[in-house]
Amino acid sequence: MATLLYQNTPSEYRNESTQKPPREAIAVRETSADHIIQNARNNIATVWQGDFHNAKQVLSAIKKRVQPKPKHETDPTTAFHKHRLAQSQTARLVNMLLVEIQADLQLNLPRAPNIQAALLDVYGEHNSEKFLLPLNQLLGFIGAHEWHKKGVAIAELDDKIHVPFGVFSPIRGEYLSLLMQAKQPENAQFAFDIGTGSGVLAALLAKRGIAKIIATDTNPRAAQCARENIARLGFSAQVSVIEQDLFPDDMADLIVCNPPWLPAKPTSAVETALYDPEHGMLHAFLRGAAAHLRENGRVWLILSDLAEHLGLRSKDDLPHWLDKYGWEIESSLKTTPQHNKAHDLRDPLAFARARETTYLFVLKKKVL
Ligand SMILES: C[S@@+](CC[C@H](N)C(=O)[O-])C[C@H]1O[C@@H](n2cnc3c(N)ncnc32)[C@H](O)[C@@H]1O
Repeated sequence: MATLLYQNTPSEYRNESTQKPPREAIAVRETSADHIIQNARNNIATVWQGDFHNAKQVLSAIKKRVQPKPKHETDPTTAFHKHRLAQSQTARLVNMLLVEIQADLQLNLPRAPNIQAALLDVYGEHNSEKFLLPLNQLLGFIGAHEWHKKGVAIAELDDKIHVPFGVFSPIRGEYLSLLMQAKQPENAQFAFDIGTGSGVLAALLAKRGIAKIIATDTNPRAAQCARENIARLGFSAQVSVIEQDLFPDDMADLIVCNPPWLPAKPTSAVETALYDPEHGMLHAFLRGAAAHLRENGRVWLILSDLAEHLGLRSKDDLPHWLDKYGWEIESSLKTTPQHNKAHDLRDPLAFARARETTYLFVLKKKVL
């Protein structure tokens, strides 16, 4: 848990990103965006003590001022790295406007909303100390809490999946239809869903009639979320969820995995679902899956080629890794993203997203 000097007293400071805490924080009743940015550039955070709605307006003004200007890069990898660097530099400045959360997880500011339920959703515990939190993250928690309650409609389930802050959401769910189309291995009774996130793939496997499924995730928030979704959907008799690195200590007829897609360093716990340095999980998965697969079993690997369009992986890498770890592709299904971001020309990575294809590879052990 990080601390920083606030009014000359060490105070608890929470930040979901991997940013270093500021040197110190000063209290102001209300002030301008420029003043907060100026302090931020000197590594000093500002704790807002005035009206909550005014704080939100100042935050919007800060965002406008520090937003990076879109630059056209011809090299895709440079575009990706520059985009992420600009995002983290912007986030660092934006996160310098703080609010003080009271011991009862409320804000003691004029016109502040009730934030207790949103914070309990994130921290899952009742905190006994006050702490400082970037206002921008608090607004993110409030938005995520609303989404958690509302849920994401999943056509393939004919139901909703509810996802709290910090868990990968199947909101851009084209890949889910691939899972429903893939041909199940004959007599498949037992499956694993490795890196289950919200539990959506485990739920779809249950819906497809697989009798027993074990879903794993290293993220405790994901394991909890998956458990809740599975129970709500009525699949608890078929699916058990465990907090576990990769595989359970067992063997299955079918192993499904949708690993993080991009080989890069995550900058927050939330990003660990998307970014994985050097494709570490993918390698570990491909290396270890054979020992957990029953005879005639199959692996369903869901993977997008976005990393290839960004120059983070070459076209030959995946076939080479599959070969190296003893897999052959029996068949594959593919889809293209339908979400707006793929066609948003303001997004500096739109050139790559527009060309992205997501695959479901059916893998079987190579006969030696
Ligand atoms: C792209 S998300 C997929 C989530 C979900 N299966 C889906 O398709 O919507 C990747 C998930 O893998 C999990 N993960 C990453 N490394 C892992 C590991 N070594 N073992 C288990 N889960 C892992 C992440 O926490 C995240 O929930």
